[in-house]
Amino acid sequence: MTTTLLREHAEHQYAQELDALASVDNRQRPPQWKLSPWAVATYLLGGALENGVTITPKYIGPRRIVEIAVATLTTDRALLLLGVPGTAKTWVSEHLAAAISGDSTLLIQGTAGTSEESIRYGWNYARLLADGPSLQALVPSPMMRAMQDGKIARVEELTRIPADVQDSLITVLSEKTLPIPELGAEVQATKGFSIIATANDRDKGVNDLSSALKRRFNTVVLPLPATPEEEVQIVQQRSASLGRALELPAEPASLAEIRRIVTIFRELRGGVTEDGKTKLKSPTSTLSTAEAISVVNNGLALAAHFGDGTLSASDIASGLLGAVVKDPVQDRLVWREYLETVLKERDGWKDLYRACREITD
Ligand SMILES: Nc1ncnc2c1ncn2[C@@H]1O[C@H](COP(=O)(O)OP(=O)(O)O)[C@@H](O)[C@H]1O
Ligand SMILES: [Mg+2]
Repeated sequence: MTTTLLREHAEHQYAQELDALASVDNRQRPPQWKLSPWAVATYLLGGALENGVTITPKYIGPRRIVEIAVATLTTDRALLLLGVPGTAKTWVSEHLAAAISGDSTLLIQGTAGTSEESIRYGWNYARLLADGPSLQALVPSPMMRAMQDGKIARVEELTRIPADVQDSLITVLSEKTLPIPELGAEVQATKGFSIIATANDRDKGVNDLSSALKRRFNTVVLPLPATPEEEVQIVQQRSASLGRALELPAEPASLAEIRRIVTIFRELRGGVTEDGKTKLKSPTSTLSTAEAISVVNNGLALAAHFGDGTLSASDIASGLLGAVVKDPVQDRLVWREYLETVLKERDGWKDLYRACREITD
């Protein structure tokens, strides 16, 4: 099936997998859930179904993390996904909402400017002025719609939202209701409603969650990939699927090239070479798995349109430089030292060393 949409919602992109899961899923489903907890976890982690359909893994990481996340959503507590940038918090939240509610679009993007209105409800001012406050003049937020329809609401970057605005979630989570004082009314959550919030580890302290709010969430920390193999698998799978979606006329990246990128990322992130022998300085940049995926995809675009269609060292050099050097002074020093002490000496890496040297001054 082809689409002209740049990016489909998970429930559409993976509709076939979700249908296949629903058709074999004979376990008990919590009220309003499209699938049983077992099927939701299988959708996220992948697996082979008895009807011959293969479910692709969406999240690559500890199975238990996904099980705890799904189990939390069957209780009256909401789910908070916490982690450094690029650990698939947003990605997991979208897929959970797609699998549980069949709808991942009830989304509130948290920023410093997020207002109470965007969490509760707003007004259509023309109608409000013409007819006064009424249900028809009320513009429901995604939260309100999720409560009415018994679906999952998603709150992205919860800790960026000002503390007093965050607090409007407390009534929603504890009383499961959203009062509308202007109408002397309320919207009560129906079964199936819950919230998945994401928050960045590094934002901690910015608008730290109040303890009242924290108590309403179960926190699940998404870790960085534990092993190089795991990280290679994530980058390979995601870059291939993004390349397909963008219809890039290039061969999928070779495992060997992905391994080199992942090695560089892990070494710089960890501050030590793979063999444990050489200590390294770490750059200020996060060097997340998500950025490794971008390095591959930008490289594939170069290879497709200006190279021979196969990812080569010169196609990934500029992406690497861009990912590592975020601070023009400090990071450049770190990068140059890494090039000279590690890449230059590594067997079979001369092409990459030269390509990187050429564009690093
Ligand atoms: N463990 C993982 N399993 C699968 N994909 C991952 C994993 N870690 C990162 N990714 C990929 O990285 C990309 C960015 O993830 P995202 O959800 O935006 O990160 P976050 O919200 O944590 O900053 C996604 O395309 C996702 O597929
Ligand atoms: Mg995110």
